[in-house]
Amino acid sequence: KAVTLIGVPTDVGAGRLGAAMGPDALRVAQLGRALARFGVDVQDIGNLAGPPNPRGPRDAHGLRNYAECLAWNQAAHDAVYAQLQAGRMPIMLGGDHTLATGSISAVARHCRASGQRLRVLWLDAHADCNLPEISPTGNLHGIPVASLCGQGPEPLAALSGAIPAVQGPQICQIGLRSVDAVEKRIIQRLGLEVFDMRAIDEQGMRAVMQQALAGLSGPEGADVHLHLSFDVDFLDPEIAPGTGTTVRGGPNYREAQLCMEMIADTGRLASLDIVELNPALDIRNQTAELVVDLVESLFGKSTLVRG
Ligand code: ARG
Ligand code: MN
Ligand code: MN
Ligand code: MN
Repeated sequence: KAVTLIGVPTDVGAGRLGAAMGPDALRVAQLGRALARFGVDVQDIGNLAGPPNPRGPRDAHGLRNYAECLAWNQAAHDAVYAQLQAGRMPIMLGGDHTLATGSISAVARHCRASGQRLRVLWLDAHADCNLPEISPTGNLHGIPVASLCGQGPEPLAALSGAIPAVQGPQICQIGLRSVDAVEKRIIQRLGLEVFDMRAIDEQGMRAVMQQALAGLSGPEGADVHLHLSFDVDFLDPEIAPGTGTTVRGGPNYREAQLCMEMIADTGRLASLDIVELNPALDIRNQTAELVVDLVESLFGKSTLVRG
């Protein structure tokens, strides 16, 4: 297995500053070395470059820092696509969640070129499918799912070279517990598959993940490219305080581990975003260290089976 770490240090899509320091916090927590211990060939290509955060007001379309978000997404798209075409697994170290438009549009383009079927798992407290006009904040980290499904500003929706980059039913969201009123309608309209916290409470993480990952293991899933977009605010704030838009009542440590282990078991994980880590809000880098711990499980760390 060959993995490339791509740092994308920006918070232009977020409402508060600090996610730009996410890539380095993950390096301090030794993400690369943790993966190398599993025999993974890890290459860290450092941080991409892009415009600073102007902290602008909402523009005529209702968005903040739109031009800067587009530039960062284009850079993320190009870097992720290059790694996929080189046969390596890109791990994008964000950065705020607007960057998923760049990374997942690259994955969609790669799947089109290689004839693979794309499945996106979106771990998040939020649905991130706002549209500019209805967004309560104007922050672009609240709209990437809409962009990927062909809604909102055309340059973002068109990054993959086709609109939409992804069909709603290809995306499965897990852990939602903060969805804006109009987003509820957009979830329906786009046809997203959603397992909110109530589903996890009622059915348990195991049953939810079995449904989310149905058809991926074994020969029937052989041509599936599985992408994981991991927003750190998916996790309960008690264990993961280092993120900008915490919402109480998320998955606990055990649930999060099981979630990652079951993804690992499919053997289909082919690209990954780690986003919304905000070291300025963290306590002694504990959230970054937790993320590294969870990514180890994602790469097959197991108590009883030798890696
Ligand atoms: N729904 C809110 C908004 O549109 C919050 C989005 C939070 N997104 C995130 N990636 N943390 O602004
Ligand atoms: Mn979120
Ligand atoms: Mn692939
Ligand atoms: Mn998000």
